[in-house]
Amino acid sequence: MSFPKGFLWGGAVAAHQLEGAWQAGGKGPSVADVMTVGGPGVPREITDGVLPGKYYPNHEAIDFYHHYKEDIALLAQLGFKCFRTSIAWTRIFPNGDEETPNEAGLKFYDDLFDEMHKYGMEPVITLSHFEMPYHLVTEYGGWRSRKLVDLFVRFAGVCFERYKDKVKYWMTFNEINNQRNLDDPFASFTNSGVRYEEGEDREAVLAQVAHHEFIASAKAVVLGHKINPDFEIGCMLAMSPVYPASCRPLDQIAALKEMDRTFAFADVQCRGHYPAYLLREWERKGFKLQVEDGDMALLEAGKVDYFALSYYMSFVSEYDAAAPGARKEVPNPYVKASDWGWQIDPVGLRYTLNVLSERYELPLMIVENGIGLHEQPASDGIVHDDERIRYFAAHIEQMKRAVEEDGVALMGYCPWGPIDLVSASTGEMEKRYGFIYVDKDNQGNGTLKRVPKKSFYWYQHVIKTNGEDL
Ligand code: BG6
Repeated sequence: MSFPKGFLWGGAVAAHQLEGAWQAGGKGPSVADVMTVGGPGVPREITDGVLPGKYYPNHEAIDFYHHYKEDIALLAQLGFKCFRTSIAWTRIFPNGDEETPNEAGLKFYDDLFDEMHKYGMEPVITLSHFEMPYHLVTEYGGWRSRKLVDLFVRFAGVCFERYKDKVKYWMTFNEINNQRNLDDPFASFTNSGVRYEEGEDREAVLAQVAHHEFIASAKAVVLGHKINPDFEIGCMLAMSPVYPASCRPLDQIAALKEMDRTFAFADVQCRGHYPAYLLREWERKGFKLQVEDGDMALLEAGKVDYFALSYYMSFVSEYDAAAPGARKEVPNPYVKASDWGWQIDPVGLRYTLNVLSERYELPLMIVENGIGLHEQPASDGIVHDDERIRYFAAHIEQMKRAVEEDGVALMGYCPWGPIDLVSASTGEMEKRYGFIYVDKDNQGNGTLKRVPKKSFYWYQHVIKTNGEDL
């Protein structure tokens, strides 16, 4: 017996990547609605508003908004015990700074959650998943502004109140640590609605932006527990272990420092205070964080209940004598990479689960894992995705060892994109993750027809046997 009874087998999506209907029911534009399609190595363009003549893949996505009954029925057929999605902030507060919420948006999620419960599927809900109102970017500069704390907490409070009897598992910010990559405009824009200006000190800006988000998250946790003490509210980080390039001690330090850039985000949300290594770094660099009275007590009071993570890949860091302290990534000769250059490393999942479990002593939930593939249905109309089956079998095997041999407390497993959807980083439809194929291409052509792939039946069996038979 490896996985506990009640283990949450499921899958994960985000509203903006599948719902489409970007203006239905009074929805406002989000940051995802102003990003065009890109490709492998071709970044998505972030435009100033929605421009004529450009293709914005999230506007229609796979039109889950109108297909959700059919889609939830398919996921129920897979045997899902839970389904992770997000509440599009712009359906509830179209601009983000209204006083009162939009009833049509609230109603949509009521109906969606009812549909899930009909099949005994537990909703697992992210409040902010790369889809904050675009108006908050143009009006306030995104999370640079402390004002966003109140606006987010208002949004969270409305959701907590409205769905307190329908949703138990929540997360505040998706992959909050992506923005540590200061050179990636996609990361700062989708995480925080921030576009760096020429010449500004990005690290200092990020410290302030993240502080606002930590405060907002902590306030949401406190408020959520007040509204329903049974709520489980987690943080959510992109976890990619960084290995040292060799046993050279300086490589070890390089990898450790690289991991700290991620752990910093989790340390604050799980331990309730800033870690010493970060405070010292700010001191050295002369950053002065703008903090209000009571902030530090809030961080302590608003610690999360569990740690949710995405896991896709691992990295290797090497000490760089020419630029000590700078990030130097080198390829890992022991693992292969996907078509998009993501290094596939199942053992890294076991390693990561162990590290997190030992560091935070919190229950863990894997809320994303998967592989993006180029796929076409064969002449029988089915996608024979054996590569995906091999990928998942290898990862679930390692997850099982983490639970069985290493004693990791794992709540559930939600592979990313159980139904093909719009890729976050590239905007492509043809970076496919699903157990269910959706007929649509990168240019937006297709019937939107849903067809189970070979892996659909494989994962169905895995869930049925509670992970015993891979
Ligand atoms: C995570 C995100 O970064 O990885 C998802 O939380 C995203 O939103 C997923 O879709 C896979 O990444 P991509 O870029 O292949 O869609």
